[in-house]
Amino acid sequence: MQTSNLDIAGVSPARLATLMARESAAYAKARPKTIAALQGAAGTYLDDVPMHWMKDWPMPFSMVIDKASKARITDIDGQKLDDFCLGDTGSMFGHAPAPVTKAIRRQARRGLTYMLPSADALALGDLLVARFGDYRWQIATTATDANRFALRVAREITKRRKVLVFNGCYHGTVDDAFVALEDGKTITRPGLMGQVTDLSETAVCVEFNDLAGVEAALAKGDVAAILTEPVMTNSCMVLPAPGFHEGLRALASQYGAVLMIDETHTISSGLGGYSRQNGLTPDIFVVGKCVAGGMPTALWGLSPDLAIRYETANAARASGHSGMGTTLSANPMQFACLRANLSAVMTPENYARMEKRAARLEQGLRWAITAHKAPWHVVRVGARVEFICAPGPLHNGAEAATAHKPALEAAIHVGLINRGCLIAPFHNMMLISPATKKRQINRLITAFDQILSELFD
Ligand SMILES: Cc1ncc(COP(=O)(O)O)c(C=O)c1O
Repeated sequence: MQTSNLDIAGVSPARLATLMARESAAYAKARPKTIAALQGAAGTYLDDVPMHWMKDWPMPFSMVIDKASKARITDIDGQKLDDFCLGDTGSMFGHAPAPVTKAIRRQARRGLTYMLPSADALALGDLLVARFGDYRWQIATTATDANRFALRVAREITKRRKVLVFNGCYHGTVDDAFVALEDGKTITRPGLMGQVTDLSETAVCVEFNDLAGVEAALAKGDVAAILTEPVMTNSCMVLPAPGFHEGLRALASQYGAVLMIDETHTISSGLGGYSRQNGLTPDIFVVGKCVAGGMPTALWGLSPDLAIRYETANAARASGHSGMGTTLSANPMQFACLRANLSAVMTPENYARMEKRAARLEQGLRWAITAHKAPWHVVRVGARVEFICAPGPLHNGAEAATAHKPALEAAIHVGLINRGCLIAPFHNMMLISPATKKRQINRLITAFDQILSELFD
């Protein structure tokens, strides 16, 4: 196919418009009950949905879900989809894994929240070390909270103001991380609701894979912590360059900054996340979303050395609220689910299955991209696979932002839904759970191939 300057990632705008119009109409036609339910609830919710992100999917209107099990999700019109979004990682181990639902039933008879530790909590020590490594843990309810609390510790210990984050990062709705790079300067990201402070006063933004930029920022002496994902997963996926993480570790130690690794998405890499799989040694380890099999739970752990420094700092601070913790965090239901998930679901055997099936998906997507001569590429971090509508590899957040093609991706997403496959909404991410079957992966590859035929052939 001939391409022109107007093409979007090699696709003609006319073909794209035709595909989107047809797929949107097919999506709507298949969902009369959904339309009626949404109309019936009009006016109930601010923004029409219980959490406004639910409007950020690319379909003409939201799906309304009846139920989900394993790697399948069913809407109220009875449309069954193979689920590769898996709640954007919350259900990465499959919807409602049996050991976790059993633990929920058992704990429900013993109470839901006490603000006191349960026996499950105290029994978890060895399992936490076995799964993630030697850290001193705290439990939060969301990864956002875990990051916020850990940042407080880093600031308290170092007595420094700033957090260094990478351009294009996402670490939850943590204020400090909502900065971007513009003409080499750190700016507050546009679009934030009610933002009244200049975030460049408390954060510095650098491009991923830019060790010289990191060193220049650290050399100013005001950086308390480097907060990073091991792989950037919240823009189009960016892998670390060889030596990047070793460099970060060395620079953090040299300049006295705390190295925080947020494994909330890269826990897809294998047991213990990317850090464990690749020998990274953060000072603070954070993970959330799927860690308790879908029960809202996050962990943040300090290395033994940092934990000693924490104890000193904690003993020295004035009495009063620490600014860390929430009432419902570390409740017994979280621990029941955490214990069940870590012992029976987040296992080496399940990770091996996820890895094998994710490699199959990666290969299939790559084959389709090559067959249709699309100028695109595929990236994978364990069970997390992404197709990117641009040539690769990408090196940093600025390149990732340019690679993102919202209109084209939206049409592909709706096309995939109409062919029975749901992928994550904000970019082109697909997760493989232990419950994901080979035939579901084959269906996704076939659907992707069909859509590429329409776009390219
Ligand atoms: C790397 C990373 N950290 C933290 C979070 C925040 O998780 P939550 O929304 O559960 O607080 C996210 C969410 O996508 C994430 O991708």
